[in-house]
Amino acid sequence: MYLPLLCLLFLWHETRVEAFYLPGLAPVNYCRKGESDTCKSEVLLYVNRLNTEESVIPYEYNHFDFCQPDENQPSPVENLGQVVFGERIRPSPYILEFMKNITCKEVCTRKYSGSDPSANRRLSILRKGISLNYQHHWIVDNMPVTSCYETEDQKQFCTTGFQMGCFAKDGRDTCLRTPDKQDAYYIYNHVDLTITYHSGEQEEWGNKFKSNGGRIISVKVVPRSIDHRDKIDCSKQNTKLLELKTSLKPKEEYQITYTYSVTFIQNNAVKWSSRWDYILESMPHTNIQWFSILNSLVIVLFLSGMVAMIMLRTLHKDIARYNQIDSGEDAQEEFGWKLVHGDVFRPPRKGMFLSVLLGSGVQVFFMTLVTLAFACLGFLSPANRGALMTCAMVLYVLLGSPAGYVSARIYKSFGGEKWKSNVLLTSMLAPGIVFGLFFVMNLVLWSKGSSAAVPFSTLVGLLALWLLVSVPLTFVGAFFGFRKRALEHPVRTNQIPRLIPEQSIYTQPIPGIVMGGVLPFGCIFIQLFFILNSIWSSQMYYMFGFLFLVFIILVITCAETTILLCYFHLCAEDYHWWWRSYLTSGFTAVYLFLYCCHYFFTKLQIEDTASAFLYFGYTLIMVFLFNLLTGSIGFFACFWFIRKIYSVVKVD
Ligand SMILES: *[C@@H]1O[C@H](CO)[C@@H](O)[C@H](O)[C@H]1NC(C)=O
Repeated sequence: MYLPLLCLLFLWHETRVEAFYLPGLAPVNYCRKGESDTCKSEVLLYVNRLNTEESVIPYEYNHFDFCQPDENQPSPVENLGQVVFGERIRPSPYILEFMKNITCKEVCTRKYSGSDPSANRRLSILRKGISLNYQHHWIVDNMPVTSCYETEDQKQFCTTGFQMGCFAKDGRDTCLRTPDKQDAYYIYNHVDLTITYHSGEQEEWGNKFKSNGGRIISVKVVPRSIDHRDKIDCSKQNTKLLELKTSLKPKEEYQITYTYSVTFIQNNAVKWSSRWDYILESMPHTNIQWFSILNSLVIVLFLSGMVAMIMLRTLHKDIARYNQIDSGEDAQEEFGWKLVHGDVFRPPRKGMFLSVLLGSGVQVFFMTLVTLAFACLGFLSPANRGALMTCAMVLYVLLGSPAGYVSARIYKSFGGEKWKSNVLLTSMLAPGIVFGLFFVMNLVLWSKGSSAAVPFSTLVGLLALWLLVSVPLTFVGAFFGFRKRALEHPVRTNQIPRLIPEQSIYTQPIPGIVMGGVLPFGCIFIQLFFILNSIWSSQMYYMFGFLFLVFIILVITCAETTILLCYFHLCAEDYHWWWRSYLTSGFTAVYLFLYCCHYFFTKLQIEDTASAFLYFGYTLIMVFLFNLLTGSIGFFACFWFIRKIYSVVKVD
């Protein structure tokens, strides 16, 4: 009850981003070298994997022939979510010291000679990276290094990555200037880093205090391509670009000198606690989010109105009439949903499979609910890298028991006897499908030498989590589920099934199912756009308050649509509702899939087959889990509704 309220509070928070505070992350105080022992003077710069919108395959920093860091510098510890989702944070060769300006310092020089067979290969990897627009992602003080530019209306727009180079080719020019040459690639071998810090008086939880040193507020980068061949010169006057040579001739020599400059600027106007704002403000606007919520609310209100009308008016009338007929005053012939009372609780075909899907659906539902609740309370903010996915995975594993319990109870109420197969399937089917898809995609990534390929040890760890934690928990849940008495139904089932009259086009199963997914999908598709952007275009997603609200709305719409359609079908004397209720709301997943296809063709510029394969692989996992989620919501709503209405009519 309090959670939605808290989330609403947080929502309000989000729309006023300046108050964005991330719990659980302590600020780091920096100071000049030798000034104090209590603060650090070394500012560590980390490099993450490079990725692009034009391919799904990310690469680690050292896949490219950039300057490499000292061998023995440790990498930061990464959590499961980061490893599984391809983040690889590594130390970098760029050395920064707090409040020490650096001008044009050389990092290293990479030499290539035509007689070295590996030289051409290393250069062509660089060129491929530039031509596919791969982006660097650097991290300083747990914040992304951003590259900013001004839009036409004088607003600053910052993104969390920057290009590794630019090219002019086939009329396309990513260098944003008139090219000197057609068909040329330029590598960005110089970076201008601007680090803003807040020093002197600091504020924490409303308390002001004097601290020595300062805290980093933002790190911005401007990458440049500079030809240093004659002499190292990073001044603005040196406008000669460094062209990336490929396919060197046997005696040819070529080199790339990497340099950097750092400027520290004091800015006490920005508080440390709101340092993320300028990044988040560059993300899609909250107006659109409000619009999406409004849109979903309209759908919910409309549906709730319909359901309320049916419940209150039609159902009431039905029940009153049925019970009157029963008392024998008016011996009319029965019609409508009461007629099928002897059949509604007849166990469905493939009851085993349905109960397994429902068990897994419950697992996904609680995983989503709890993860979103945590996220919405701010524990899984963008600064806690990978925390969201780690949380989701751990929860999924731990929620094996509810899955086993639900699956077992439903299966038992279907009169099923093969309880061993039921438990095994519940613990193996859904995780098996997800793990299988993941494994196949990992093989592809691995063959491409991508950093997103999960190391073997992590794969073994995931398998162990599944087989040693999730499976036993499912068994425990199933044990309790089977030990309970089977669910009792309010009406008895007849020996002989009734004949179902011929249905009109609207009450046939397929049109009903296809229509069923439309409204729930209508509630989520605007949010979906942002979520897909955050997955595929490395935009940050932080509006978890909105997402939580949308999730609640999704649950309500799924439930209401299914109940509504279920009622219509029962009125048409079609009592095969078990599977239909699952499929009705589960069909939302099909729309999700279609939307992902649409996104693939309109938003992403992916051309190679491996990338497309991966994209659809990940999409399939998402669609499958979403189907389990929505299908189960629909089923349980309908189940509740049917038990309710048949328990109030008198049946002799
Ligand atoms: C670094 O350079 C900036 C800009 O030129 C200047 O404002 C600042 O005082 C310099 N900082 C130090 C420590 O020299």
